[in-house]
Amino acid sequence: MRNRMLKLMSLFAALALVASACGGSSGGDAAESGSDTPDEETDSGTDDGTVEEETDEGGEGGDTEGATGSVEVFSWWTGGGEAAGLDAMIEVFGTTDPGITFENSAVAGGAGTNARAVLASRLQAGDPPDSWQGHAGQELIGTYVAADQIEPLNFLYDEQGWLDVMPETLIPLISKDGNIYSVPVNIHRANVMWSNPTVLSDAGIEMPTSLDEFIAAMETLKSGGMDAPLAMGEQWTSLHLMETIMLASMGPDAWNGLWDGSVAWDSAEVTKALEDYNTVLGYTNSDSSTLSWQDAGQLVLDGNAAFNIMGDWQEGFFRELGKEPGTDYVWSATPGSDGVFQFLSDSFVLAKNAPNRDAAIAWLTVAGSNQGQDAFNPVKGSIPARNDADRSLYGEYLLSAMDDWASNTVVGSLTHGVVANDSWKSEIDSAVGLFLLDNDVANLQTALVAAHAANG
Ligand code: GAL
Repeated sequence: MRNRMLKLMSLFAALALVASACGGSSGGDAAESGSDTPDEETDSGTDDGTVEEETDEGGEGGDTEGATGSVEVFSWWTGGGEAAGLDAMIEVFGTTDPGITFENSAVAGGAGTNARAVLASRLQAGDPPDSWQGHAGQELIGTYVAADQIEPLNFLYDEQGWLDVMPETLIPLISKDGNIYSVPVNIHRANVMWSNPTVLSDAGIEMPTSLDEFIAAMETLKSGGMDAPLAMGEQWTSLHLMETIMLASMGPDAWNGLWDGSVAWDSAEVTKALEDYNTVLGYTNSDSSTLSWQDAGQLVLDGNAAFNIMGDWQEGFFRELGKEPGTDYVWSATPGSDGVFQFLSDSFVLAKNAPNRDAAIAWLTVAGSNQGQDAFNPVKGSIPARNDADRSLYGEYLLSAMDDWASNTVVGSLTHGVVANDSWKSEIDSAVGLFLLDNDVANLQTALVAAHAANG
C-alpha cells in the first residue's frame, strides 16, 4: 500500500510539473517554439527523424541496423482513423527497415477493452508480443513495470537523442528508478466535445461553455424533439464521460487531489460532480451499450445527436470519413473545462524476452522518430509526443490542440491509464457499470470510496 502511495506521489509530482511547464506560457506555438519547455530544445540529438543516424553507442541496444525477420506489434487500432494512422507509421517502417516483416496483431475494441484482456492472458502464458501499446502513467508503471514484463529503453533514448525532443515532463510518467520504459508516439486530449453545428444553429443554441449552459442546451434540444442530444457508446465511453464531467465540475486541482489523496472521495464536491454526471447521463441514448465510440460519433455527424464527448481520436475518424471540420463538425472543451487539457499518451514498449528483440528495437526507433510521428499523428487525430512536429502536416483542430497542450493546465486521464493503475481503474469501472443500471449516486460514491481505500 505504502509503495503504491509513493508511486502515485511521484506520478503527481510529475503531473504537477507538466501542469506548471505547460501552464506558464500564453498560448504559445508548441511546434514552432520547439517545445513547451523551449529552452530545452536542442538540435544536437542524433535523431533528426531518420534511422540512418543511429549510432553504435547504444549499450544494451546494440546495432539493429539491417535487422531482418519479423516483429509482432500489438495494439487496438483496427478501424476509423486508428488503423489508418498505424498503417502510415508501418509504411515508414517499411522504408527504414525493408528487411523486417511487420506482424500487426491489433485486436478490435475501443480503449483496448478487448485487446488488453488478450494481452494479459498472453503475458500470463509467457507468450508476449515483441512490442505493445501501453498508456503513459500508471497503466505502464503500475502494471507492466510492476510485473517486470518490459525492458528499460534508456539505451535507445541515448542513441536517438530522444531526451532532447520528448517533453521532459512526460519522461517521469514512463520511468521508474531512473529507467525509461516506453516510447510515446502521441498526446491525445480526452476532454473534447464534438458537436453538429447545423443542429445547434437550427435550434438557436450557442456553444455551451459551462455545465449549466450545457444542460440548458440539451433541455432545449429535448423539448424540440431530440430524445438524446448527447451521443454515448459502450461502457468505457461512460467512464470517459464521467471523468470529463467530474473534471468540469470539480476543477483541475480537485481532480488531481483525488489521485494524490488530498481530496476525499466522500467529499461534497465529489457528490456534486457525480450528481452532474447523472444529470448529463439523462440526455444520452438508451442504446449506448450496443454502440462503439465511432457509432456515437456518427450520430453527431448524421444530426441524430448534437454532442459527443470523446477523445480527439474522434476527429481522426471524422477525417477518415472525409468530413469537413467547421462544417460537418465543430469542437470545444467539455463544457466547464476550457483551459484544462486532460491528456493521455500512447506509447510502445519492448517485451522482456521479446522473441524478435532487434526487430522490435527497429520498430521502436521509428515510433520515436520525427518521420514516424509526423506520418502517424495527423491521421490518428493526435499531436506528436515529440516537440519538433512539422505543423504544416496538421489540420486546424490538431494545431489548436498543440497550442492548448503548450498553454493549458494539464491533468491526466483515468480511462486511458494516466492517473490510476489497472486494478484501481477496473474497480471504478465496475462501479460505473452498476451505476448505469441503478443511477444511484450514493451507491456510486460509496463504491468509489471503497475503490480508493483498496487501491489508492
Ligand atoms: C485510447 C487510446 C487512443 C484510442 C482510443 C480509442 O485508450 O489511447 O489511442 O485508441 O483509446 O480506441
